[in-house]
Amino acid sequence: HRSLRAAAVRVLLGNWTGNATVPSRSLYPHQWSWDSAFIAIGLRHLSPRRAQRELESLLSAQWADGRVPHIVFNPAVPCGAYFPSPDFWRSSTAGRPAGAPSTPETSGIVQPPVHALAAWLVHRADPAESGRRRFLARLHPGLDAWHRYLTAHRDLGGRGLAAIVHPWEPGLDNSPAWDTALRRVPPAPAGSFRRADLDHSAASDRPTDLDYARYVRLAADYRDAGYDDARARFAFAVEDPGFNALLIASEYALADIAEAIGADPAPARARAVRRTAALTDRLWDEERGIFTARDLHDDRLIPVRGVAGLLPLMVPGLPRRITDALLRTAAGDHFRLGEVHMVPSYDLTGPEFDPSRYWRGPSWFNTAWLIHRGLLACGAVAEADRLREGILRDAGATGFAEYVDPHNGAGRGIRDFSWTAGLALDLLC
Ligand code: DGY
Repeated sequence: HRSLRAAAVRVLLGNWTGNATVPSRSLYPHQWSWDSAFIAIGLRHLSPRRAQRELESLLSAQWADGRVPHIVFNPAVPCGAYFPSPDFWRSSTAGRPAGAPSTPETSGIVQPPVHALAAWLVHRADPAESGRRRFLARLHPGLDAWHRYLTAHRDLGGRGLAAIVHPWEPGLDNSPAWDTALRRVPPAPAGSFRRADLDHSAASDRPTDLDYARYVRLAADYRDAGYDDARARFAFAVEDPGFNALLIASEYALADIAEAIGADPAPARARAVRRTAALTDRLWDEERGIFTARDLHDDRLIPVRGVAGLLPLMVPGLPRRITDALLRTAAGDHFRLGEVHMVPSYDLTGPEFDPSRYWRGPSWFNTAWLIHRGLLACGAVAEADRLREGILRDAGATGFAEYVDPHNGAGRGIRDFSWTAGLALDLLC
């Protein structure tokens, strides 16, 4: 494992820009929100100081309403290098009703709130250094505002869960879970935009042109409503179990952070408890033995098994019968934990399964890392150890691929992907 460690460090150093880490020099040349959280979790073993900077630079682009944008753009990168670029999002020119910063330029949608968890883990790596720099005290107000934004502005169903309004928000862009809801979205005209992702990655590993045309339409509609959650009319609004599970885990981390700095941990803890009850109430699919997403358009569960439905394994305080059912589902035919490479992003037996195409089947390192944490929390130590070994093997064998084919472990997407390196480093330490 010593050479794996050195290789992971090389990737993280190579992707560091001086202020933050790009997920990839080619495909993702800016700062991404949930990527930065996972990257910081790895960086803390290399340089706690740098891990702190990673999170601080992300939060310095936070909007006045508390949202943490999913991309923070690097002005030094040419506009054509990534689509959609700042001229599409217009965060600093769209009237800024939600208070986007005038600089840097950002997107206007969000990604899963895993930042408080990351901040707590970064602190724990070197509490003395963290204390000297007052890291937690400086980050706490921003993290608290972020969680409050999701609680106050994104509970579109009014039942205590945060809704996502774009398939990029849960991070699982083209999951088959979104197919039905997306069919209602009129695609933006072909030719009205140019994808940059296909310059760097095989088309068969990426979302389709039709997916992109719908992503563009949804983002443009939100932008044209000033990114104002009260004013926007959302063609896509979904309660996702992965997004909410990460928010709950982060609320508990925020409570720990509050306690460490002498602030009141009770509000974050109370939000976590309430949201856990809502998660079980709204998204537990008893028949399938997994959490599924709820489409707010018709208020029905979407009958699709995806890896996001297993992420509540890391939520403290779920009834044992639910965690037991989740463990059975993970080990069963749909995910075959321990038999295939890591954890497939989508049901191995599902009609849409594709072993190569982004979130429609491939196994990803961040979801595997989260499930590893969940397995440990549930006391499934042998399963967790086996998954850890699998993550490290796949990371090393593929040169830190973005994702892998769950059947044969072949790397897919790009290589030298930062969170793959960061999370492998975390599991090695
Ligand atoms: C992309 O560009 O592919 C991302 O997943 C969206 O942020």
